[in-house]
Amino acid sequence: MLLPLLSAATLLLTPSLAVFQDEAFHIDYHFALLGAPKESTTFFHQPNPASKASLIYTLSEEGALGAVNPRDGSLVWRQLLQGQHQSNASFLRAGEGQDLVVSGSLNQVAAWSAEDGRLAWRTATDGVLRDVEILELSDGKEMVGAKDAVALSGSHGAQSSVVRLDGATGAVKWTYEFDGSDEAYQVSASSTHIYAILLHKTLLGYLRIRVVSLDPVTGKKIDEYMLSSENELATADTIVSVGANSASPIIAWTDAAHSTLKVNVVGSKAISSFTIDQHAGETVARVQVHAPYHINSLSHFLVHYETATSHWADVFHVDVNNGKVTKAYSLPKLAGKGAFSTSTSDANVYFTRITRDELSTVSSASHGILGRWPVTSFGVVSGIGEVIEPVHAVSEVSVKGDAVSAIRTVVLLSTGDWILLRGGTATWNRPEILASTVAATFAMPAEVEAFAERLQAEASSNPVSAYVQRLTRHIAELKDLPALLVSFPQRVVNGFLGTSEDDLASDNFGFHQIITCATRNGRMLALDAGNPNRILWNRQVADLKKEQAWNPRLASSKGGEVTINSQAGTGFRYNISNGEQLVSILPVDVEGDAKAAREVRFTMTDSALDATVDSKPAWHFSPASGQTIHSLVPRPVNDPVASIGKVLGDRRVLYKYLDPNLALLVTKSSLTLGPSNTATFYVLNTVSGAILHASTHNDIDLTSPIATLISENWLAYSFTSAASATAPKGQQLVIGELFESLVPNDRGPLTGNQNYSSTISTPEPYTLTHTYQIPEAISKLAVTRTKQGITSRQLLALLPDSGAIVGIPYNALNPRRPVGRDATKDEQAEGLLRYNPVLEFDPKWLLSHQREVLGLEEVVTSPALIESTSLVFAWGLDVFGTKISPSFSFDILGRDFNKFQMLGTVAALGVLTFVVAPLVTRKQVDQRWKFL
Ligand SMILES: *[C@@H]1O[C@H](CO)[C@@H](O)[C@H](O)[C@H]1NC(C)=O
Ligand SMILES: *[C@@H]1O[C@H](CO)[C@@H](O)[C@H](O)[C@H]1NC(C)=O
Ligand SMILES: *[C@@H]1O[C@H](CO)[C@@H](O)[C@H](O)[C@H]1NC(C)=O
Repeated sequence: MLLPLLSAATLLLTPSLAVFQDEAFHIDYHFALLGAPKESTTFFHQPNPASKASLIYTLSEEGALGAVNPRDGSLVWRQLLQGQHQSNASFLRAGEGQDLVVSGSLNQVAAWSAEDGRLAWRTATDGVLRDVEILELSDGKEMVGAKDAVALSGSHGAQSSVVRLDGATGAVKWTYEFDGSDEAYQVSASSTHIYAILLHKTLLGYLRIRVVSLDPVTGKKIDEYMLSSENELATADTIVSVGANSASPIIAWTDAAHSTLKVNVVGSKAISSFTIDQHAGETVARVQVHAPYHINSLSHFLVHYETATSHWADVFHVDVNNGKVTKAYSLPKLAGKGAFSTSTSDANVYFTRITRDELSTVSSASHGILGRWPVTSFGVVSGIGEVIEPVHAVSEVSVKGDAVSAIRTVVLLSTGDWILLRGGTATWNRPEILASTVAATFAMPAEVEAFAERLQAEASSNPVSAYVQRLTRHIAELKDLPALLVSFPQRVVNGFLGTSEDDLASDNFGFHQIITCATRNGRMLALDAGNPNRILWNRQVADLKKEQAWNPRLASSKGGEVTINSQAGTGFRYNISNGEQLVSILPVDVEGDAKAAREVRFTMTDSALDATVDSKPAWHFSPASGQTIHSLVPRPVNDPVASIGKVLGDRRVLYKYLDPNLALLVTKSSLTLGPSNTATFYVLNTVSGAILHASTHNDIDLTSPIATLISENWLAYSFTSAASATAPKGQQLVIGELFESLVPNDRGPLTGNQNYSSTISTPEPYTLTHTYQIPEAISKLAVTRTKQGITSRQLLALLPDSGAIVGIPYNALNPRRPVGRDATKDEQAEGLLRYNPVLEFDPKWLLSHQREVLGLEEVVTSPALIESTSLVFAWGLDVFGTKISPSFSFDILGRDFNKFQMLGTVAALGVLTFVVAPLVTRKQVDQRWKFL
């Protein structure tokens, strides 16, 4: 009696994830990211002079500026700097005791409230910024109020200049223009001078360091001189300077072989030379200088040497009176990479060293260790066998007497994670690596795929054998019963609390797909779409040089694998469960030859699109004169269509024009100047090259994105129309649908034709289109995908201006919406409404709800195992994912399903059976006796 009850209860308790409207923030996830922080633009700073606690400020490689709370790693505020690429130089400074942080990127200097990130002022400079600094002292006095900024700018070959900007308003106080075409390099300030450092190219192609000193008050030149000899510096790469506002700003450089270090205290002409130790024949690969950034600190600095396998450091002291530099002590050589951070407390300077397994702090005055903390784990995931190393770090230390009483260090790790160590313990982790995602795909774990195949087999066989198969499956599952019973109490609790920790293997709905992401710096990582806070693995897959692009493309394949094709190589396969690289065994394919022969290859250039079959040209497309090709999107490979027709309200059918070889090609004016920019949208048959539909739009703003999509028998595109005499600038979304015939129940020339050939010319489709005015620009379009394509579609649109992703139901866009009249009864039955050229985005369509999802660039979708649901994953700077059910969750229980009530009923019935059964038995016995 008990066992059936138990197993009945077990069945009911199988964890169910649910998809319903009230589940916003349960089924979706969002990583608000900054991107990899840069060492020179990351620091601890108090948001206002009165506050005790500091925040961590950073300007990242992705051009995101923000403040992070060191307590839990949460984002306090952020701003995305416009037009900033990760290869562009950028700067972030904060004056001591200031409530503003000052950023510099491209030609914009901007000041932001340190507390909430509001823009205080913004000033454009003439050239590209080379350096920005804060003037801590002016005329020998500490500045009152907002401290002024100095900015050095100059593009290649153009005039370089220094400007002094008012700290409160950003107004230019003075400008100094340099003569000649020397390249601007850096600016530093002392209490009496502003020093600009320029690089002068000699006739032989060497560089000489030119120092120009200016009067901070008037901006007039005081002096200028050359440092470094005629043929010492070959490139600017070996300058390891640190300028800025330390008590004695220095500039340091080495020869190309890294054998001698030269140091100059900016303002003096003396150069000190030091021989760099060559430990055991290992060549020094990198030299860095770490120095305090405060004008009142001791003038001590640390030089960090790095070889391929080890690192060490020397600490130097500067005699402020005569500019003499002396070596004070060395920190020993250790294996692996290390990072050093500089902290100050009053005038004292502390250096913290972070290695693979330890954190230690020394005072700049002597080598005695003030604090040492073992690091047992950074708390992040890496590839199999990969050693995680620190890349750079900043620390905040408090020192009591001769010991460090507290230390917090934010470290960027080689895995791309940004973590905080309190002492030596990792307290939080921001997966900033995800911000550099350049490609991503969904993949099905092998177990889930196998389950899906069994379901498929059951669904497609006759009822008897399906029943037998199902029975066999359940019997096979019985072997898991003991384990299930052991975990039973936990599952009951989890089931009630809705905290079920489902794992990848027991995913009956296909929600736990694995998302693999390839990043710009050659790493690949995997997330579980059903539990995205967990990174499954994160490994280096391509060894790239600095700023080398690899353009990866990811594809998932059967058996739990993902394949990367990139400029670094093609066909690399990885196990999606653990990131292990799979040895490629070329599959023996008997049909291979026949298949290859039918493969169509496309080559697209600005001026033409060529298709070749079997290396023979199949067709050729050249855009109209004055036009170039903008983009080509094909119909998705896996684009299931449930029905070949549309059932109308009166039960008649409109036949869709379905062809697997459709593609949407866009051409645009090659000259983007002037008002007459046009773009033409063609629907092509990619096998025959036939143009099935074309439409041209004039007066397009070609600097705005053009988003395109083609799926099933319909296409969508959006663009921004330029302001003209008759209309303001506006965004438009065009939707077109292709039919075999516009007469219901008629297939046009295809009637009765059973055979299909893609090369024999097929009749042209009839295309219906509607144009909608939309409130903001769309940067990318995608469509939801479900297993069989029965569920209605949603058009997914990325809205970069409001930082949102919106899912527009297809019916809201339907090109069959009646124009100029109300919908008839039959049309209403189909859900068609009267056409309105203005389409507002209903707040209910916002998949991102009220979140601000910044910098999204791409979106991919994947069908779940249940028909109602499509998984969505979008990336760019932030990462956002969700599950959507465009036709609601018709095949799954919602979160509002009352398990308590149902189980209560079952339990009550069970009890009733127990109680009533003896009564009934007795009654029956009694009755028998009565008849006797
Ligand atoms: C910024 O980076 C982009 C992309 O690498 C480049 O095209 C552009 O010229 C850079 N701008 C400056 C001012 O360096
Ligand atoms: C992938 O890794 C998992 C876990 O280690 C293993 O069970 C599976 O067999 C691997 N798959 C392939 C294709 O090697
Ligand atoms: C379809 O093709 C088959 C084989 O090529 C042929 O026998 C049949 O007549 C064709 N049917 C039609 C309707 O063209």
